Formats: sequence, structure tokens, C-alpha cells
Amino acid sequence: MHTPPTGLYEAPLPADWPEPEALGFGRILGPYLAHAQHGEDSGWHAPTVSARSALSVPVAGGGLQYGFSVFEGLKAYRDADGRIHLFRPRDHARRLQQSAQRLVMPEPPEEVFMTLCQLAVQVHARYVPPFGRGSLYLRPTLYAEEDALGFRPATRHRLAVAVTPCSDPLPKSQRLWAETELIRAAPGGLGAAKTGGNYAAGLAGQMRARANGFDDVVWLDALTHREIAEAGTMNLFVQIGDEVVTPPLDGTILAGITRDSVLRLLHADGVRVSEHRITLDELAAAGMAGQLGTAFGVGTAARLVTISEISDGTTAIRFRDTGLAARLYERLKQVQEGATHALREWRVAVPTPQNP
Ligand SMILES: Cc1ncc(COP(=O)(O)O)c(C=O)c1O
Repeated sequence: MHTPPTGLYEAPLPADWPEPEALGFGRILGPYLAHAQHGEDSGWHAPTVSARSALSVPVAGGGLQYGFSVFEGLKAYRDADGRIHLFRPRDHARRLQQSAQRLVMPEPPEEVFMTLCQLAVQVHARYVPPFGRGSLYLRPTLYAEEDALGFRPATRHRLAVAVTPCSDPLPKSQRLWAETELIRAAPGGLGAAKTGGNYAAGLAGQMRARANGFDDVVWLDALTHREIAEAGTMNLFVQIGDEVVTPPLDGTILAGITRDSVLRLLHADGVRVSEHRITLDELAAAGMAGQLGTAFGVGTAARLVTISEISDGTTAIRFRDTGLAARLYERLKQVQEGATHALREWRVAVPTPQNP
């Protein structure tokens, strides 16, 4: 067990703590950060915990100036016995390493990542909502910390884990806007890295989707603007005939951990799944032929969201709810919260004083 340094204790809940269903997402931040510094010559320093307000990011450093920053988003859930587990943290650690490699930043060893995530949960254990009613979202962020200008790899970095308690997402339905002008990522670019630049590139598209009365954006490929890629913060799945299709990991989209979890659940259920490119025109044609079933987006924050429609302003593709998305939502929730023994290897326990 990684014991928080002396002088730090488990953060008490503020007096006006909302019901789990009213937490939302990202509104309340945990008061501490678990963090570790990396020096070019000294390597990774020991993990520690500080007040969130104690760390600062240099304005003239590469983190802010050039976007030398990569991050992860994962969740900790409480099971029916009150024990806390992280969901697939080692997979998130590996994806952070891949993002870091793409941006020429030091790759945090898996154990540094795991220790920091465990510490962040331990000092915020009371922030983890009760079983079935939400989760603690962790945001490990690796950023250049050297206080100097210059377009080159920084000599000092830090990996810091912030947390926010959040409500259990609802299995809602969304209408998505397929963006045919703006692009999020191109082949050879940063699309597969979880880095701020991708989100900076994507905000205008998301705002355009909202302005047009849609819930979120669907990014299309950068070359033909016809192949579906992913949504703002979700990977996409569509049911065509007796097959479920998802775009391939071609380097332009994020290799979602939830995407991988859903692929495993579909395979386990004997559903035919394939990873291949799919255009808006193929979807429209499948719709005309009466072959379109459910579509859904998946991601850590939203879990699984049914998609009722994708439109590029000219063609509206409407999906039919076959019940598949709702079934998958429930299966995934059970696996994440430890309500089933299936796939328990995906959950890593976080010891706390109440549950050593
Ligand atoms: C751009 C993008 N795609 C996909 C996802 C889904 O990834 P994951 O399931 O690992 O959360 C996210 C969320 O992290 C995202 O930001």
C-alpha cells in the first residue's frame, strides 16, 4: 500500500456536499494532487501529495507555449462492499506512455503512474460516491515544467493526478453533427495522442454542432471528409445488418479503453464485430436498405451513449434502437463496478484505511 506522506490525511467532505446524482462531471475538484517530477539528469523523483493550489505551471515553459502536455482520464468505482477499484489503470498507463513518446516527453513508468493514481484515490477516498451512484474521475497529466522558452524537449516535467467526483452518466440518446469542413486530426498527426492540441482543434467543431442544434460533433477523415472517425470525446460503433462496425485505429483517433472494453464484451456475446472504415454515404445507403440498427458512442466519462441521428446538414442518417446499446451499457457498468466476476482482471484494488 502507498501511504500518503505524513501531514496529509484523507480529505473530508465539504459540508455542502451534493447527492451523487448532482455531482455532474468536473465541477468539484479534489483538494490534492498526487505528483512526481522528472528531471533530464535525475529521472523520476519520489511520488508525493500536495495541495492542488501548491503547484503552478510556468507561463513561458513548453507546457503552455507549445502544448507539451499529455493526459489520461480513468475512473475509480466503489463496489457493493465499499471497496474502491481503478478500472483498467495499466491500460491507461500504457496509453499515456504512447502519447508521451509522440510528443518527445519522458514516458512515465507504469509503476509511477499506478502509485500516483493510488495515492490520488487514497487521499480522496471519501470523494468516491457509493456503489452504483458514480465514480471518482482521475486526470493524470504529464507536462513540461521547465521555466524557459525554446522549441526543444524540456529538461523538467511533472506527472500530476487531479481528481473530480462525478455522477453516474445516464444512458441518454444524442444527435451528432458530422463536421465536413473543420478537421480534428490527419494521418501522421497527433490524433492518437491524448494531448491538448487535439481538443483545441476540436472545440470549434463542437460549438458548431451545438449551434446547429446537435449534442456533439462527429469528426470525419481529413482527406475525403466522408469517413466517420470519432466523436468529441467518444469512439463510435454502428450496427449494420448483423454486424457491429467501429472505425479502425489508424493513428487519427484515440485508442479508447472503453472502445476496447466494448469490443471484448461484444466478442464475448458472440456478436459479429469488425473494425473498418465506414463512410456517411455507406451509412445512408444502409439506412435506405433498412439495415441500420443501433449506433452508440463510448468513452470513460460518458460510458455509452445511444446515437439517434448523424447529420452533415444535407443527409440525415437515423438509427434504430435495437436494445443493444442499453444491454452493453448495463454489462459495462457491472464490470466497472465489480457487480460481476466477469473481467475482474480489469479492476485494480486501491487499499484504504477502511478497506486495507
Ligand atoms: C477524443 C477521444 N476519443 C475517444 C475517447 C474515449 O476514450 P476512453 O474510452 O479511453 O475514455 C476519449 C475520451 O477519453 C476522447 O477524448
